Amino acid sequence: MDRPMGSALRTPLCELLGVSFPLIQAPMAGGWTTPELVAAVCEAGGLGILAGARVSPERLAEDIREVRTRTDRPFGVNFLLAPPEAGGGEVATVQRFLDRFRERFDLPPGGDVATPDSRLGESIGMVLEERVPVLSTAMGDAAGLAGPAHERGMVVMSMVTTVEEAVLAVERGADVIVAQGADAGGHRSTSPLGTEEEPPLVGTMALVPQVVDAVEVPVVAAGGIADGRGLLASLALGAAGAQVGTRFLLARESGAHATYRRRLRAAVETETVVTRALTGRPARALRNRFVEEYRKEGPTPLPWPLQSVAAGDVYTASLAADEEGYLPLLAGQGLRMVREEAGAAEIVEEIVAGAEAALQRLAGAGT
Ligand SMILES: Cc1cc2nc3c(=O)[nH]c(=O)nc-3n(C[C@H](O)[C@H](O)[C@H](O)COP(=O)(O)O)c2cc1C
Repeated sequence: MDRPMGSALRTPLCELLGVSFPLIQAPMAGGWTTPELVAAVCEAGGLGILAGARVSPERLAEDIREVRTRTDRPFGVNFLLAPPEAGGGEVATVQRFLDRFRERFDLPPGGDVATPDSRLGESIGMVLEERVPVLSTAMGDAAGLAGPAHERGMVVMSMVTTVEEAVLAVERGADVIVAQGADAGGHRSTSPLGTEEEPPLVGTMALVPQVVDAVEVPVVAAGGIADGRGLLASLALGAAGAQVGTRFLLARESGAHATYRRRLRAAVETETVVTRALTGRPARALRNRFVEEYRKEGPTPLPWPLQSVAAGDVYTASLAADEEGYLPLLAGQGLRMVREEAGAAEIVEEIVAGAEAALQRLAGAGT
């Protein structure tokens, strides 16, 4: 969908990223942001981003090739930079608690677990070599990446959750800041992460203007934005665009499985919670049996990412049984706006058209 260059929604972010609309499809690790989804968003005039976490460098290289066969528009790749953490609970205690879920699926008791070897450096090297137009980072310090990325003409986007993190990220070379409000689905991008159970949880509405006031680079709002009203509100808050995650889980091209989709379609705004129980790092997810029981009675979770390794067999069995109760179902708070399954291009068009309509309504109200 092409709009005239003078569209009211065009912002400096559009020039910087080479996109028609200031709308970004959030990277979502887990297999959800497929090359088909990313390319469809790009073709529709937004920026699609592949998730580089929990994918081998070989698979990621294939996905990048696949995106490039489907579109010649700019796209991005995202990395979660947080290294494995120390501290947290004890493996034996956590496994004994998780055994209650295993019994349900006739799984053997859980044993010792180890953090898998990280191939993050290899993946980042490949993405730099490929000169992917946008390098998106979350949960960490992109200082070492910004220089090599800039030398290759790449734009660096860093996701933050506080003003202090935003200022630091710009000092470290970020060209765009994604301000992730507490409403957002997925892991909190807080870095460094304290030991408190709850990380800072500043809502999108409060966070965005304060970040805009503190940094000179374009700011993108993220968290709870799922339609045109949210995009327009982001621009009104001074952001140069919006990054939308949960809404795209129900795109036809997304890799979200049927169990996830079913739960998303029925869920409402009160059904999510921020918890460390799923992976060891705070993440906003749909409440289910696993999350509720763990929060009520579970021991201190293992440090990131060991908790997800320990519970991995439960998640796999739950998915195989088409049972949503014991799966990590990350999602934001804008759930009643996430209903219809649609093509990714339709979602982009709907959000853009909704923002333009909302703008006209406001302009009309003022005359
Ligand atoms: C299922 C899911 C997975 C996510 N995975 C990632 C990820 O791999 N990298 C990342 O930077 N952000 C990730 N996020 C967070 C998004 O970047 C973004 O902050 C969030 O989706 C915005 O809130 P919304 O879901 O309400 O639109 C994820 C979010 C969801 C819902």
